[in-house]
Amino acid sequence: MKFDTPAGSNPIDRMSVVGRAHSRIDGPLKTSGRAPYAYEHQGFERMAYGYPVGAAIGRGQIASIDTAEARRAPGVITIVTSPDAGKLDKGKFNTAKLFGGSEVHHYHQAIAVVVAESFEQARAAAALVRVKYSRAKGRFDLDEELKHAPLTGGSSGEGSAAPPVKRVGKFEEAFAAAPVQLDATYSTPDHSHAMMEPHATIAEWNGDRLTVWTSNQMIDWGRGDLAKTLGIPKDKVRLVSPYVGGGFGGKLFLRADVVLAALGAKAAKRPVKLALPRPMMANNTTHRPATRQRIRLGANHDGTLVAIGHESGSGDQPGGGPETAVNQTELLYAGANRMVAMRLAVLDLPEGNAMRAPGEAPGLMALEIAMDEMAEKLGMNPIDFRARNDTQVDPAKPERRFSERQLVRCLREGAGRFGWNRRNPRPSHVRDGRWLVGMGVAAAFRNHINMASGARVRLGRDGRVTVETDMTDIGTGSYTIIAQTAAEMMGVPIDAVAVRLGDSDFPVSAGSGGQFGAANATAGVYAACVKLREAVAGRLGLDPATAVFAGGKVRGGSHSLDLRQAAAQGDLVAEDKIDFGELGKTHQLSTFGAHFVEVGVDSFTGVTRVRRMLAVCAAGRILNPVSARSQVIGAMTMGLGAALMEELAVDPRFGFFVNHDLAGYEVPVHADVPHQDVLFLEEADDLANPMKAKGVGELGLCGVGAAIANAVYNATGVRVRDYPITLEKHL
Ligand code: MOS
Repeated sequence: MKFDTPAGSNPIDRMSVVGRAHSRIDGPLKTSGRAPYAYEHQGFERMAYGYPVGAAIGRGQIASIDTAEARRAPGVITIVTSPDAGKLDKGKFNTAKLFGGSEVHHYHQAIAVVVAESFEQARAAAALVRVKYSRAKGRFDLDEELKHAPLTGGSSGEGSAAPPVKRVGKFEEAFAAAPVQLDATYSTPDHSHAMMEPHATIAEWNGDRLTVWTSNQMIDWGRGDLAKTLGIPKDKVRLVSPYVGGGFGGKLFLRADVVLAALGAKAAKRPVKLALPRPMMANNTTHRPATRQRIRLGANHDGTLVAIGHESGSGDQPGGGPETAVNQTELLYAGANRMVAMRLAVLDLPEGNAMRAPGEAPGLMALEIAMDEMAEKLGMNPIDFRARNDTQVDPAKPERRFSERQLVRCLREGAGRFGWNRRNPRPSHVRDGRWLVGMGVAAAFRNHINMASGARVRLGRDGRVTVETDMTDIGTGSYTIIAQTAAEMMGVPIDAVAVRLGDSDFPVSAGSGGQFGAANATAGVYAACVKLREAVAGRLGLDPATAVFAGGKVRGGSHSLDLRQAAAQGDLVAEDKIDFGELGKTHQLSTFGAHFVEVGVDSFTGVTRVRRMLAVCAAGRILNPVSARSQVIGAMTMGLGAALMEELAVDPRFGFFVNHDLAGYEVPVHADVPHQDVLFLEEADDLANPMKAKGVGELGLCGVGAAIANAVYNATGVRVRDYPITLEKHL
């Protein structure tokens, strides 16, 4: 089904199942431990265990690997080393190689896998693998490398290069002439996804056919890249990932666990299971790259922005891409003269890549402090200042309107609900005992992306509906909203729908990433259900255009037939996908919100405690308020981590992240998050898709960090522009 005209009224509009609060249908399986995660699939014969060895240098060559002692260790079946594996290909979505060859591109890059009868034996033997390196000088210092880094546009989404500097009007002149100016530089550190479930895989060969049970957000990408890496046809590879214990972008792509398990299984001629040990994850896999961002704002005294400039620098492995931290600055505020630019340094640190809301998350951490600073210079309420500079069109292309944009309403309604009028605009003037108390606000913005997405639906003679798609549920609630969609479309109760996900044998979906999963995957299920409705009506001799599906029955004219009758002579199966035409190009599809935060800063120790948080979101139709809220409060928690705690510490001598486990890489715990509130504004986006929904899972992260930073400033009067805002920075 091609989506190229605004969604008219359709069965989803009934909202009798969609849009209602439903607990996760997979909840009981998960809470009782019966949902199999990658490492837990059962039923294999003679399972062997793999343990990876990671490079102990940041860059250089493997001179030799001595496996003699390791091979003699108890229980060892086989060892595959990177030089022995030869030149394996690189996945389309991988920047550095996952395995193969003698070159070391980054610390903890996989260089060997030990396969043994037990996990403990494999781990013990891995410690006996002796490696000699010849170490090369690496580029590990972002600030140093940015001094001579070239401009880059990154890619524009279809893989074509975007212009390295984007301009509207005359930024430099307008900034120089502006009566009120802000020129400030902000920095964000490298972040780790730190998801609960590590990267893990069970691999099994059956002749030349390979099946992997793994933990991956994007089944079809992973399948393609596994085939490409191993040099085998894609149709010989099956990838199964029904449950994913968190991803945050760290599992968008094929990672070393899959390749090592596959090679280990081939060499051992047995199924092999392998998980990346937690201390290897930060350096072996990807991370959100650190940024250095310079923002210049020029405004008239009435608060009208006349010049907006945002330059961001980040680094990555050779051939990698920039952290696109200037994304939101192109679209968030009006302003006649604009400039955004990015620089990309070459680094030999581990591969940088997408982490939840790549681009906007670190970009708004900077831009929304800058907006707070400018509001203060102007003597304006930061909410009025943002509202003054609202735009309903793309500032670079005024003919492109936003499909829906309720930023100002998010700010105003949030202000009322949060009690913003109780904020004292003079910093460091509110006390509660030893605590300095402050409030902060920030805008939230994240683009919505349309992705083709397919599904297959089946109506059984028992009247039950089964949905199959390779869509993943990474803890987000995909199972539930897909069941809701099929139930609404076919007019059956939600418990008459079975949902099967995360298998490359099923139709290719949008997958889980970039907050595009929920809206696109359900739109694909919608498309398949439209076909199934036609098949049902056809069998029963009804007009599909006027047939009404409700209460397990189909009504047409004076006929009312039980759905089961349609499948009486055999199951009815329909498959389709949603495809997008030009609508998303003629209009700008984005999601908006506002974050409000109250903090207390201990006036003696400098410790910051978040006291209250509120997010107001406008993101199209909310498919399930329970799972959507869960996404948003999770994202707010992640933003709290980014503001106050999270930082991968780089050792610039040896080129690795020092705090590469959950003891050293701090993330918030429940006690850090006392009170969160989420409000969804009513919205149905006709131009987005037939569900009239957009993404929300990343919006909740976008802007939170700055709202906290602004609250800390309001509490203390000390402006910290370098994240995380740890206590020594504002003492
Ligand atoms: Mo998200 S960083 O695209 O999983």
